[in-house]
Amino acid sequence: MPSERATATTPFAAMDVLERAGEIDDVVHMEVGEPDFRPPAAATEAAVDALRAGDDDYTSSRGTASLRDAISRHYADEYGVDVPPERIVVTPGSSPALLVSMLAAVDPGEDVVLTDPHYACYPNFVRLADGTVRTVGLDPADGFEPNVADYEQVVDDDTAAMLLNSPGNPTGAVMDGDTLSGLVDLAERTDTAVVSDEVYHGLAFDAEEHSVLEYTDDAFVLDGVSKRYGMTGWRLGWVVCPPEYVDAVNRIAQNALICAPSFVQAGAEAAIREGTDWLPEVREDYRERRDILLDAAERWGFDLGYTPEGAYYVLLDVSDLGDPFDVADVFLEDAGVAMTPGPDFGEGASDCLRASFATSTEDVREAVERIDALLAETTV
Ligand SMILES: Cc1ncc(COP(=O)(O)O)c(C=O)c1O
Repeated sequence: MPSERATATTPFAAMDVLERAGEIDDVVHMEVGEPDFRPPAAATEAAVDALRAGDDDYTSSRGTASLRDAISRHYADEYGVDVPPERIVVTPGSSPALLVSMLAAVDPGEDVVLTDPHYACYPNFVRLADGTVRTVGLDPADGFEPNVADYEQVVDDDTAAMLLNSPGNPTGAVMDGDTLSGLVDLAERTDTAVVSDEVYHGLAFDAEEHSVLEYTDDAFVLDGVSKRYGMTGWRLGWVVCPPEYVDAVNRIAQNALICAPSFVQAGAEAAIREGTDWLPEVREDYRERRDILLDAAERWGFDLGYTPEGAYYVLLDVSDLGDPFDVADVFLEDAGVAMTPGPDFGEGASDCLRASFATSTEDVREAVERIDALLAETTV
């Protein structure tokens, strides 16, 4: 019989919708956060070269020295912060980075504070570490930005960690520097670990983004090449560890992960070293797609009254149409538009669908036309 832990792990609805959408022809995919642009050519060349050169052995569990050096430089260039390569552990995607961080920071029964809404997988990561989920509600009227005073009501000396995510999934909200530094202060006062998921960094199109590392060295920072470089299937991420946790994280990574694939590390290093001169264009595309969707959402009566500032998601309030699972089914089956039901992302998204605009601008326009036509002829 599966363990209690396995039984308590809920499915990831976006992947379930993706699977169902795969069985239907001609679907516009707005259910997953899969960037429509290709990885940098330099990444592909470096990975293929590495494979051809026989660079396919285990590496250090921490990642190759040259990749960790490239990541360290990335933090210096982007945020002006000094992150020694010794504090970086490379993992096969940022998801394993989150898992090893949780396992290193949380003892059984300890509280981990998430926002609500939050990335759908976070509660499962907390449960895998035998932690207890506590939440701080976010309000669309505040643009889904967290409020330090609300955290003060929930975080105390018994809290093991607060898990932050900016730019945020599923809201697209971007946390400002004052909020981040206020939360870092609170974490210091209560001896709470800060775990900051920065996987959407580089994709804020309407706000300035800050790394938590600008305010403290004492944080777990997760990032990777999936979103910023359009390399989701490469499976390459990392965690910057607080100095006192590096060895603990590495011990767990050694046992559970061995290392990230060696040739993928070579490709990721090339992508990171080459820089992201092309990203402003991507951000402009995302802003345009967001605006197309927000205009449509207002027309449809789905507008939540907030404006996503980054990542590539928007929450649409479909409560006037019915249960979001039913609405998602009708959108998929009758209009060929796949979106993810909101309840997976917490109570605060329970009336919503999450639409990803990582798909092309053309596809976003097509989805809007299809839903226009559907709503003109049916009641869901
Ligand atoms: C907030 C957030 N964190 C982490 C991940 C996982 O990213 P990776 O592909 O690096 O495992 C995702 C993927 O959608 C995400 O939305």
